[in-house]
Amino acid sequence: MRTEQYANLHLSVEAGVALLQIARPEALNALDARLLDELEAAFSSLRDDPETGAVIVTGAGEKAFVAGADIKELATLDGVAGRAMSLRGQQVFSQIESLPKPVIAAVNGYCLGGGCELALACHIRIASENARFGQPEVKLGLIPGYGGTQRLPRLVGQGRALELLLTGDVVDAREADRIGLVNRVVPENELLPYCRELANKIMANAPYALSLVLEAVRAGASMPLERALLVEAGLFGLACATEDMKEGTKAFLEKRKPVFRGIVNRQREER
Ligand code: CAA
Repeated sequence: MRTEQYANLHLSVEAGVALLQIARPEALNALDARLLDELEAAFSSLRDDPETGAVIVTGAGEKAFVAGADIKELATLDGVAGRAMSLRGQQVFSQIESLPKPVIAAVNGYCLGGGCELALACHIRIASENARFGQPEVKLGLIPGYGGTQRLPRLVGQGRALELLLTGDVVDAREADRIGLVNRVVPENELLPYCRELANKIMANAPYALSLVLEAVRAGASMPLERALLVEAGLFGLACATEDMKEGTKAFLEKRKPVFRGIVNRQREER
């Protein structure tokens, strides 16, 4: 097992699955500037790590995933600094969203404000029964600044998103499941085992194809359908140029399990 220790972040990689635990218990894992720096460093390291096939993000302790951006830091902001802080958070969360490996949010406890926005930047969200979700920024005279006004409506639809954004209400895991904010709700003690099992199931597929699916969905989300379909066709072509595609189709025809190596067919690429 490989581990990396940051001031408020624990990273361990075991059997291809990275577990990233946000650990700032005195502030219910609220994200301050240092934690954003640490998240950026950890995700850069995971992006380049050939041993990591999937990432699980969770909060240390039982009470919170992340209770938001750090309100002590927010309280000191003026207009210019507020804009810079928002752009910084957006940049780090976009880095997470564009990771070419699946990122699963294992949401345990409070998932509010910037915490909910962090979960929204992950590719899949699994919640424990005690998870609580909300965008309570308007109660502080603020609006979400790390992508919540954009990713939440894209995920759950404008009406449901606006209800959460305008009321600042906190909803439980069942309601989050009902509106499509999370993929699934599991008992607290099953959260990490379930997320590991899901990561392993995904990792059994061709790694390069996984990265292309993530790219197609992310790039296409901000495009008109016609252009997005062209992007899909280009990435489909790229998948056809991989050794894994030859292996996957051959294995099917030979009625055996494929052995994926996760690499592009270099001979074809060089042509
Ligand atoms: N920032 C900084 N500190 C926080 C925090 C946050 N977001 N959330 C909790 N804390 C701190 C509390 O101040 C408290 O510290 P002290 O012990 O030093 O007083 C400690 O964590 C424990 O919190 P509580 O005593 O409040 O715990 P509770 O169980 O009574 O309540 C809670 C839990 C409902 C989550 C409550 O802490 C809360 O409402 N937190 C703030 C949630 C919030 O508004 N988040 C949005 C922030 S704005 C944002 O995120 C902007 C953005 O989009 C970028």
